[in-house]
Amino acid sequence: MVPVKKNEVYKIEISGMTHEGQGVGRIDNFTVFVDGPIKGEEVEIKIIEVKKNYAVGKLVKILKASPDRVEPLCKVYNRCGGCSLQHMSYDATLKFKTDLVTENIRRIGGLQGVVVHDTIGMDNPFNYRNKAQFPVGIQRGELVVGFYAKRSHDIVNSHMCLIQHSDCDKAKLIVKRFLEENKISIYDETTGKGLVRHIMTRVGFKTGEMMVVLVINGNTLPKQDLLVKRLTAEMPQIKSIVLNINTANTNVILGSKNIVLFGEENITDYIGNFKFKISPLSFYQVNPVQTELLYNKALEYAGLTGEETVFDLYCGIGTISLFLSQKAKKVYGVEVVEDAIRDAQENAKLNGVDNVEFIVGEAEKIIPDMYDKGIRADVVVVDPPRKGCDGVVLDTLVNMSPERIVYVSCNPATLARDMAFLSERGYEVLEVQPVDMFPWSSHVECVTLMTNVKNK
Ligand SMILES: C[S@@+](CC[C@H](N)C(=O)[O-])C[C@H]1O[C@@H](n2cnc3c(N)ncnc32)[C@H](O)[C@@H]1O
Repeated sequence: MVPVKKNEVYKIEISGMTHEGQGVGRIDNFTVFVDGPIKGEEVEIKIIEVKKNYAVGKLVKILKASPDRVEPLCKVYNRCGGCSLQHMSYDATLKFKTDLVTENIRRIGGLQGVVVHDTIGMDNPFNYRNKAQFPVGIQRGELVVGFYAKRSHDIVNSHMCLIQHSDCDKAKLIVKRFLEENKISIYDETTGKGLVRHIMTRVGFKTGEMMVVLVINGNTLPKQDLLVKRLTAEMPQIKSIVLNINTANTNVILGSKNIVLFGEENITDYIGNFKFKISPLSFYQVNPVQTELLYNKALEYAGLTGEETVFDLYCGIGTISLFLSQKAKKVYGVEVVEDAIRDAQENAKLNGVDNVEFIVGEAEKIIPDMYDKGIRADVVVVDPPRKGCDGVVLDTLVNMSPERIVYVSCNPATLARDMAFLSERGYEVLEVQPVDMFPWSSHVECVTLMTNVKNK
């Protein structure tokens, strides 16, 4: 028997938090999830959804507040789907992330005593993002430009986003004014009609160079010369203005065709000493400050002397490979997306790096192939997508038996699973360093050092 009823109000104590930052409590041992409360708080909630094994509640009143609770700085925090932890102090969010990693390693990985360091936060956890993608729409007859609301495609109008580089908001407002004044047609997701879909902005934190992209459902933008004139006059740091053509009825933001309206199709930026060309479609880490820190940690854990052959699996545009190349004899980067490998090769050339080789394909096919050809790694770095490493990749690594495996992960649950697999097969987990790449969100990135103890 389910002990809760829809629309009834209950008092509960929040005993934990999910990996997404939702509060979790129990009513007669029945689990209830609630957006908003913090672990340790006593709250009044109204049940809004009842399922067989759990219910969802809406926060009505906080009866006993946590000492970690703060007033969110963002005015649209409660509606916007961008941030999820702004009701906690920054230090408390870092502790939440460390605890999440520790708990996953213990519960999913079944590993005791693993050293999990405190999450490395940012000195200034604001304005850290170098890329913004603002959906554009008409709501109640008004032009709105902002972010999607939580679990919906309603647009929350936003004038100032605290986590974006401030130039992104400035450019967005210039474009918004242009769209309003010139009555440019706006895309409607439900009918697939209308022109302007998204405004995307990118900023090179080290170079200051900026790119503005208008994603449109068509091939030209009326009065595009006027827009270029306004943007470049008000923001001389803009080096690239691009129309991205997306005529498909899809949730995917960018189409594959770009038309350059001003400047180049790329801007440049640096991570550490390495220079990168960034086009509208290239993948590039969104928090450049923490990325540098994360990559340096991966390089430190790799413990290279200059003699090693290193694999960088799931290498994207080869950023980690370039960092590793500084201290390795040879680096092989493996990545499934062809365009990313092309970018990686260009980035290596751009930086005069000649001891890296990039291979396109699925790691689970490429790694066994390399193993069969007798290519061995002394150190392997993996940075897989959220689902973690493929079993074939892990099996092959165990057979290859590198001295160290450095595991970069954006999902503590799959990290813990893969760690358990490797630790049963001769790898000891020495330490885990969580890094806060996305302040105020519930995401956490980790770098883990595992060492080969098979023959010791
Ligand atoms: C978390 S990203 C890592 C990117 C890169 N290391 C960086 O720091 O920018 C994961 C990458 O794995 C790639 N990927 C996904 N499945 C793959 C597979 N089966 N084999 C190789 N690469 C894969 C994705 O395209 C993506 O670039």
